[in-house]
Amino acid sequence: MLRVENVSHSFKNGTEITPVLRSVQFTVNQGEIVALLGSSGSGKSTLLNLMAGLMKPTEGAIYIADHNIVQMSENKLAEFRRRHIGFIFQAYELIDNLTVRENVELPLVFQSVAPGIRKQKAMKLLEQVGIPDKAELFPSQLSGGQQQRVSIARSLITEPSVIFADEPTGNLDTRTEEEILAILKQLNETLRTTFVIVTHEREVAQQTQHIITLRDGRLITEQLAETEAAAAAGGEGR
Ligand SMILES: Nc1ncnc2c1ncn2[C@@H]1O[C@H](COP(=O)(O)OP(=O)(O)O)[C@@H](O)[C@H]1O
Ligand SMILES: [Mg+2]
Repeated sequence: MLRVENVSHSFKNGTEITPVLRSVQFTVNQGEIVALLGSSGSGKSTLLNLMAGLMKPTEGAIYIADHNIVQMSENKLAEFRRRHIGFIFQAYELIDNLTVRENVELPLVFQSVAPGIRKQKAMKLLEQVGIPDKAELFPSQLSGGQQQRVSIARSLITEPSVIFADEPTGNLDTRTEEEILAILKQLNETLRTTFVIVTHEREVAQQTQHIITLRDGRLITEQLAETEAAAAAGGEGR
């Protein structure tokens, strides 16, 4: 479903070149939850942004559903991202003057989906993330954990095949972190959406089926938990 092939990346600032990723390679199956683990500065966000098509690597290929997004034109990539890719940010990135429901609907507004359908889909997702009663409130009236639930619902409304989440529980206390992880796991089971979750916490990574560990821009270990879900996902979509 997702294949990272020999990806290297360097940032250039004037004459200074900072190598950040070195020959990273791995495959993620459709329906998996994967953790990208590593300490601060190991290159996790860079790799996530490359996989989400937000920037292009210096070297290598990234396949999502058999399309190499590295070789796509900017226009085609923008369209591909709208259809196939969702993103969850550490800081939620909700729009303050829209209600919770309007925030969740927003990606469908850009796709010119009719208001009635948008509303129906948004309400269904708000139920799935456990806050249907907050639909008509504004983000500032919600706790951090509730705001992250809104952001999760928003990422799912276009029914993407893969969702990339950069430290989605990084601003939350341990109990709320556990609630959010439980929601992500539940959504993964019911919707079969693939999730790639960046974290620097081993306890968070250990709740996933597949752990990819980065150190200094290199993939140092890859662990697959033999859960039922991982076994069922095996063989699909490679
Ligand atoms: N735009 C940039 N320009 C130069 N260096 C960068 C840029 N973004 C990130 N880096 C460097 O790349 C390394 C990896 O960063 P990042 O991918 O954000 O790591 P992580 O998310 O694991 O903390 C760090 O050393 C960081 O300073
Ligand atoms: Mg980061």
